[in-house]
Amino acid sequence: MHIPSVGWSPDTGALRILDQRYLPAREVIRDLVALPDIIDAIRTLAVRGAPAIGVAAAIGLAVALAADSEGRGSTARALLPEYASRLVEARPTAVNLAWAVHRLLRLAAETGDEQLLETLRVEAEVIRQEDVQMCAAIGRHGLPLVPDGARILTHCNAGALATAGTGTALAPIYAAHAAGRLVTVYANETRPLRQGARLTAWELSRAGIHVTVLPDGAAASLLAQRQVDVVIVGADRITANGDVANKVGTYGVALAARAHAVPFYVAAPWSTIDPATATGPDIVIEHRSRDELGELPPGVPAWNPAFDVTPRHLVTGYLTDRGLITPPFV
Ligand code: MRU
Repeated sequence: MHIPSVGWSPDTGALRILDQRYLPAREVIRDLVALPDIIDAIRTLAVRGAPAIGVAAAIGLAVALAADSEGRGSTARALLPEYASRLVEARPTAVNLAWAVHRLLRLAAETGDEQLLETLRVEAEVIRQEDVQMCAAIGRHGLPLVPDGARILTHCNAGALATAGTGTALAPIYAAHAAGRLVTVYANETRPLRQGARLTAWELSRAGIHVTVLPDGAAASLLAQRQVDVVIVGADRITANGDVANKVGTYGVALAARAHAVPFYVAAPWSTIDPATATGPDIVIEHRSRDELGELPPGVPAWNPAFDVTPRHLVTGYLTDRGLITPPFV
């Protein structure tokens, strides 16, 4: 069952996304061309998840440059640095966004004006296809973590909606389901934007996979009651020493999993590993608006980090498209 989280419009060549702000109530497909609209879609989480925003930024850069330069390579080259840096600034924590944009910038530097727009378009499609392949490989490598009858706890959404393929944390679950294994997924609700309840539950249930949603605060009790065999989460950035930035709340799940001796795996493609950042405290954590926390008494401030950092010592293993790997990542 394909989910068109991020790709190209077959009609116009625009960036096509499934607008995740409306899920699970409505499936709204949007085609985007203008750079401000693309940046807004990334900032407001219409398209979200580390690999998906990398793919969206790559396609979006190619599409917006082609439109605004009216097909002229020299104009596109003049616009490129500004467009690239505006995209990279849209969300700071997931390294995949900067990774994809810098990949296009490096290629542009080696390409003449005549070929520039076509080269960027082709490379953006290569990035999308690679993401599909990386998800499939994570699924294959992760299959042993999900035997028949497995009960898996996950946090946020690291599935098809967060990538161009079948996801990272959810890829082994889809692979196990396809292999005929019966699996049960516990999806943390994921405060405050409820990616687990709205998105993970939506995509798993439509695939026929048994999924139960729990409030984030109940995860420790679920682990204590021995109802989870393995925790698998995604990542937004993995540093050279193996620290992991992921959706806020992940760190608490990792602590509870360690306290109850439940294995805790991080699933991510190679594009999420950032050897240039040494340790977790070096990661820029995105802070989001007070409004996301719902109604608060007037004048009461909010602290709303979108991500937290799980230290390496709490991670049982790193499941990547190249198999299970061990830090340091250089
Ligand atoms: O703020 P979001 O919804 O973009 O956060 C997403 C996550 O934290 C995911 O777990 C992570 O990006 C991995 S997605 C394969």
